[in-house]
Amino acid sequence: MTYETIQTATDGAVTIITLNRPKALNALSSAVLDELIEAFAAYQADDSQRCAVLTGSGDKAFAAGADIKEMAEKSAAEFYAADFFSKWTSHLVEATRKPWIAAVNGFALGGGCELAMMADFIVASENARFGQPEIKLGVAPGMGGSQRLTRAIGKAKAMEMCLTGRMMDAGEAERSGLVARVVPHDELMNSALKTAKTVAGMPPLAAMVNKEMVDAAYETTLSQGVLHERRLFQILTATEDKAEGMAAFIEKRDGVWKGR
Ligand code: CAA
Repeated sequence: MTYETIQTATDGAVTIITLNRPKALNALSSAVLDELIEAFAAYQADDSQRCAVLTGSGDKAFAAGADIKEMAEKSAAEFYAADFFSKWTSHLVEATRKPWIAAVNGFALGGGCELAMMADFIVASENARFGQPEIKLGVAPGMGGSQRLTRAIGKAKAMEMCLTGRMMDAGEAERSGLVARVVPHDELMNSALKTAKTVAGMPPLAAMVNKEMVDAAYETTLSQGVLHERRLFQILTATEDKAEGMAAFIEKRDGVWKGR
């Protein structure tokens, strides 16, 4: 598949998706969204692919936000009628049930920060900068930033970032719980790929279930979440991969996964 605004590649069982508008700091236009929806759907549908990595091209940005030049032309009626931004969550979060990692290589601002937060976790280069500067444009986050950032780093820092538009560097993002790990800039893709390959080597149904369980912690009470976890655990025990995984442990060998 050939795309105009993104690039895709595979490395074994890992799909690599790269935002590819470096001159516009990978700003997230509608064309980018349409292509990302196709790329993520292809990843989700391909049984040979078990983890994905999303990154930005160029040295400067993961994505500097939704495309301001595109949004500047739109009326409120157009934003509302199209339910603008709704497809990001429905396709990249809800429909993508397999794991994916954001490898943040530079600015992740506005929609860029929000897109990174849709990933299952973020690996960041030392050059990464996170922020929700929409207030400076007379607007506010629109792709989940006020909600996901607050859940990730707590109200005090999220409120400060949204109200001042200040950027958080990679070190602060790691200390605050926004990113899983910070690595030297030149090692970002190698490190993200290594992690993705580890995930891709896991039993695929168990990977999906683990993702679903952790995500449920955002949505439910503790008792409902614990019950949901227990039921999913019980369902997994009916899989062939559970029988294989436990037999492989006892026989001191690596498991061979069937995804069923
Ligand atoms: N949309 C469209 N184009 C963008 C863009 C964006 N979000 N961010 C950067 N660009 C473009 C610039 O217009 C510029 O293009 P030209 O060369 O054609 O002028 C090019 O990318 C390079 O940008 P700069 O010259 O500004 O680069 P810089 O190094 O001086 O500054 C920056 C970098 C601080 C990231 C700055 O570009 C910036 O502040 N960008 C906007 C960040 C922002 O406000 N993001 C939020 C967008 S709104 C949003 O995302 C809503 C939502 O919740 C979903």
